[in-house]
Amino acid sequence: MTQTHTIARPDDWHLHLRDGDMLRAVLPATSQHFARAIIMPNLVPPVVTAADARAYRDRIMAAVPAGHDFTPLMTLYLTEDTDPADMAAAHAEGLISAVKLYPAGATTNSASGVSNFDNVAPVLEKMAEIGLPLCTHGEVTDADVDIFDREAVFIDRILDPIRRKHPDLRVVMEHITTANAVDYVKANDKNLGATITTHHLVINRNHILAGGIKPHYYCLPVAKREEHRLALRAAATSGDARFFLGTDSAPHTDENKLLPCGCAGCFTAPNTMSILAEVFEQDGALDQLEAFTSRNGPAFYGLPVNTETLTLVREEATYPAHLDTPEGPVTIFDPQMTLNWTA
Ligand code: NCD
Ligand code: ZN
Repeated sequence: MTQTHTIARPDDWHLHLRDGDMLRAVLPATSQHFARAIIMPNLVPPVVTAADARAYRDRIMAAVPAGHDFTPLMTLYLTEDTDPADMAAAHAEGLISAVKLYPAGATTNSASGVSNFDNVAPVLEKMAEIGLPLCTHGEVTDADVDIFDREAVFIDRILDPIRRKHPDLRVVMEHITTANAVDYVKANDKNLGATITTHHLVINRNHILAGGIKPHYYCLPVAKREEHRLALRAAATSGDARFFLGTDSAPHTDENKLLPCGCAGCFTAPNTMSILAEVFEQDGALDQLEAFTSRNGPAFYGLPVNTETLTLVREEATYPAHLDTPEGPVTIFDPQMTLNWTA
């Protein structure tokens, strides 16, 4: 008899959908499995106002394929000019679910991010007051900080001071990559959660750099040592409600990845659920998959768990190497392992 594993329909708490032709090409890979996703605002130009978020939400809804049920949870891109009143109104009408903090220059399209954190204190104060979560890209960009240490230094220099100054602010540490971040989350059980990507459960920095450079494994925050990957695996598979899935699926065309200065991002939307089922089963934790993909995120964001279900079937799954888009092929993340669950 075919073995199956049924979970509440999952959500993706950190997703890049882009815009235009790319949006239309990549959205079905997410909406086939996921009911909702927190939509990253790092377009060019970024989504900074309620009006921007409304227009982007409408473009996403227009791209949802017939027969798919998908709700984009919009975010605003925090800048030093963010207007607390515009933001609060967007939250009050249910238009936005979070605000995203990018330190200036930290990653793809982050030039408008925050340089002086004192300048956003009034916005953070308002967010704490109205219960609007802050999603953080947790990396400092100081030239004297080694890129592999950027996350740990961010926790000490930026995140912890912000949380002490605004103890009621709800914070999501996005796409954590280090044991330091896991430990920080575990030591703080109030108003703090963390997303973990699919790819950071699978690759360490050797996958990027050993035996020739592999641009398709380059993303930000960059994958760290094996001991950090193992800490992420333990956190994700533990069932601890503070950890939930945010794929950070970030499509770039091969043309833009395979350059002397290539883009950061792994495209994992098509095979994420197959990979996660494999990872959780390998760790003897298939019974915790639903907590990670479908329960812990809604609990943090104060939303109901989806009533629909997703059934995984124990059958080998294979995926094409690329998704073809009008802008060119986008390489699908290769987990370098047999996937025994089809989603
Ligand atoms: C993201 C992108 O391409 O927009 N890239 C990535 O490597 N994760 C930006 C981000 O989330 O850092
Ligand atoms: Zn991202």
